[in-house]
Amino acid sequence: MARLSLVLIAMVMLFGVKAYAEDLATPSLDDIDYPEEEAPSAKEVELGKVLFFDPRLSLNMKQSCGTCHNPDLGFGDGLATGLGTMGGGLGRNTPHIYNLAWNVTFFWDGRAGTLEEQALGPIQAAGEMNLPLEKLIPRLQAVKYYQDTFKAVYGDGINKANVGKAIASFERTLNAMNTPFDQYLAGDKMAMGPEAVRGLALFEGKANCVACHDGANFTDNSFHNIGLKGDDKGREGVAGGKDMRGAFKTPGLRNVIFTAPYMHDGSEGSLESVVQFYNRGGDQDTNKSSQIKKLNLTEQEVSDLVAFLGALTDPLEIKRPKIP
Ligand code: HEC
Ligand code: HEC
Repeated sequence: MARLSLVLIAMVMLFGVKAYAEDLATPSLDDIDYPEEEAPSAKEVELGKVLFFDPRLSLNMKQSCGTCHNPDLGFGDGLATGLGTMGGGLGRNTPHIYNLAWNVTFFWDGRAGTLEEQALGPIQAAGEMNLPLEKLIPRLQAVKYYQDTFKAVYGDGINKANVGKAIASFERTLNAMNTPFDQYLAGDKMAMGPEAVRGLALFEGKANCVACHDGANFTDNSFHNIGLKGDDKGREGVAGGKDMRGAFKTPGLRNVIFTAPYMHDGSEGSLESVVQFYNRGGDQDTNKSSQIKKLNLTEQEVSDLVAFLGALTDPLEIKRPKIP
């Protein structure tokens, strides 16, 4: 009996590991784990979009989620590190929010487990939008559109859980899925130029980027110290021991061309400088992942990799809604 369960555990582990090490692919909407089992209605998504762009979500009514996650700047803010509603600097780079529907940990250090939970964070954070949720609810209640739409979508009207649900529903629609790379995978061999095709081979081969940027969204959903300088503890501040010092979440790379500057500290200004960083094996060795080492890429190979990253682009047309 004991032996049988051991065999079973071993099988689960084997298959678990196999399912985990996914290949690069086109993401499928069918693989999204929606909290309510099915995709949200168009009305719920629109409600979340209006909330996302509504400055009422900040104490001084000057900042919406879309101020920092600006659709015209790849849902980032173009700054090395974010700026709060009161003008104070945030310690980390504003990440893009593309293709998070499949993601399982949020923030650079993974401290939030769901998009619903994540959304309520910046609203209340003193350094960000600085608005206690007790103040947000009456503000929304004063607006007829919110009153009617929350009631229609959720039945129980405006409350903080529903604010989180609506915003998360909108975020789960920001998916880059029809890039030249996806067209190439689907059989259109002309969709990527020769540079990008060579870049793909390097990405999976000599440069070994897939050690971490793997699967349909180019992330293993895990945490690594890639050898950036600086004293941010990263994942160590949330979970794990010293081995997680300076480790950050592997960001997905779809639409990455729009989201400069790069890394948790915004220290790399362009994709070319990111690839050069990896090429020299990072900038410091303390606790650095064993997967990061000198790559000896030629100039041509560096630009091939950059061309491949550029082929992961599907510009999504997101129009800012009218705020009621
Ligand atoms: C003041 C600028 C600012 C505002 C306003 C802001 N964010 Fe962010 N956002 C950030 C920064 C900076 C981070 C990264 C923080 C960290 O990882 O420690 C972040 C992280 C995130 C993430 C995690 C992304 C990932 O890859 O894990 C999501 C999702 C997100 N924000 C959504 C929102 C939503 C929704 C709102 C509005 C309710 C919002 N943000 C408001 C700056 C901002
Ligand atoms: C050991 C795992 C690992 C390997 C190997 C790796 N990366 Fe990364 N990558 C990460 C992590 C983790 C980050 C975020 C690091 C941080 O901000 O501290 C990152 C960040 C990036 C970013 C910035 C994304 C953004 O939104 O800021 C790009 C671009 C990138 N990697 C491309 C590559 C390329 C190209 C390769 C191969 C040459 C590669 N990576 C190899 C783990 C890895």
